[in-house]
Amino acid sequence: MEKYRGLSPAQFFHRNKEIAGFSNPARALYQTVRELVENSLDATETHGILPDIRIEISLDPNNSERVTVKVTDNGTGIPIHEIPNVFGRVFYGSKYVVRQTRGVFGLGVKMAVLYAQMTTAQPIYVKSAPVNSEFIGEYLLYIDVDKNIPHILRMRIRKKDNPKVHGTSVRLTLEGSWVQAKKRIEEYIKRTALIAPYATIRFKTPEEEVVFKRVTKKLPEPPKIGQYHPKGVDVEVLKELTKNIQDSNTTLREFLVKSFEGVGEKIAQEFLQWAGFDPSLRVKELRLQDLEALASKMRSFEGWRRPRPITLSPIGEELLKEGVRSTLKPSFVKAVTRPPSSYGGHPFIVEVAVAYGGEIPPQDQPMILRFANKMPLLYDEGVDVSRKVVDEIDWSVYKVKFPAPLAVVTHVCSTKIPFKGVGKEAIADVPEIEHELEIAIREAARKLRSYITRMEKLHEIQKKESTIRRYMPEVVAAIAEVASVEPTLLERKLEEILLKELGKKKVEQYVE
Ligand SMILES: Nc1ncnc2c1ncn2[C@@H]1O[C@H](COP(=O)(O)OP(=O)(O)OP(=O)(O)O)[C@@H](O)[C@H]1O
Ligand SMILES: [Mg+2]
Repeated sequence: MEKYRGLSPAQFFHRNKEIAGFSNPARALYQTVRELVENSLDATETHGILPDIRIEISLDPNNSERVTVKVTDNGTGIPIHEIPNVFGRVFYGSKYVVRQTRGVFGLGVKMAVLYAQMTTAQPIYVKSAPVNSEFIGEYLLYIDVDKNIPHILRMRIRKKDNPKVHGTSVRLTLEGSWVQAKKRIEEYIKRTALIAPYATIRFKTPEEEVVFKRVTKKLPEPPKIGQYHPKGVDVEVLKELTKNIQDSNTTLREFLVKSFEGVGEKIAQEFLQWAGFDPSLRVKELRLQDLEALASKMRSFEGWRRPRPITLSPIGEELLKEGVRSTLKPSFVKAVTRPPSSYGGHPFIVEVAVAYGGEIPPQDQPMILRFANKMPLLYDEGVDVSRKVVDEIDWSVYKVKFPAPLAVVTHVCSTKIPFKGVGKEAIADVPEIEHELEIAIREAARKLRSYITRMEKLHEIQKKESTIRRYMPEVVAAIAEVASVEPTLLERKLEEILLKELGKKKVEQYVE
């Protein structure tokens, strides 16, 4: 007979670490930095705090494959009693709500802890000073993989010296390849600075210290926690929501209005009539088959309002442009933030920037910089929706001739990014997202076309000018001779005409 047993979530990810991006020492180091930095950014900007983040990477002097990563932030901190579970239990966190954050799964940092303890047998060290608390908590812990619970080796709670201080510091030692991961990690941080130009990021490596200083103090409006949209429900969601109803007299109509996004009294009434449900039915009396019918009708009803984008926090055209300018240093950039849209009840916003020239190196195809909920995506570009959309565009329509110094920045923000895996590297080609991306890219590309046209004209004018200048001495000499005028006077006059005529044309090209 076969032997049967269960597997704890920690055991599952211990066995399948590759699916979360921990596939080799270089990638694992990259992923560790990423998970820690993303948690730090969530803990700051999501709560209206200008991020100050410090990343330190150091190598064991006796073994350069043993890498210590430390990330410190000025975020909200973590309630001290929550620290063990947050770092020591797979699928535990504060982000299982309807709100745009980098984190979604409640898994990221635990993968880093698991990988560290698997490869170096080292626990994680956490120090956190939560806001609105007088205390600081310090923990040294690892994950009890069998049970999926934290195993605390040491802990200490002490009073804050300064009650206003808040933030978290996390330190891990793993087997990693700094030499191989360096480039990617640097690129990741550079791109993080692009999409979060309001963050200051200090990055200390074994070789140097680089500071990405914030280029603006403008923080986008933080996202708010929202509710499910009726288009996105299934039976399980309904079961959970109805279970949470306290008042047993709550009617179906009240339930819809109170528990969902985009449902007012009028729409609730219209829907219930359309779906054939009695609005005064008590929610607590609904049976499983009623929930099933309700879920199915809710998904197919077309009269709901679209989800409001209060749960989202795009960075906006101005900040995106600023971020692109300071990191890519192009000579042209156009940013487009699309109005909110939705798929399957999930709100989303697409932002795009098209950058050209300047310090962007010419390449055979457009360079794509992908972002999802302000996270740079560096791997699996080939299967991402952005690649698909960019490839389907005929860039010659926009006067781009390859090799060209062209970069396309795409940012999708949503309460539910359709990632293709838990490593969060590629976005699936959901038709609604694809459509919005295409509209945004084309809009920006049209501006690029007029920029290129202007530059071409400018180039022509300059060519003309240089030709005229080349023949000017000869012309001046000939006319001076024939008309018996002073050559210097003639030259000055010609120069004046040249500057006036061509200068006017040049200015016309510069002004949009
Ligand atoms: N630096 C930090 N500051 C404040 N809270 C943090 C920090 N790091 C982690 N947390 C808390 O720990 C929880 C778990 O983090 P973890 O990275 O495992 O999951 P997540 O960020 O929720 O989702 P994901 O798996 O997508 O990263 C977070 O939800 C957050 O509440
Ligand atoms: Mg996380």
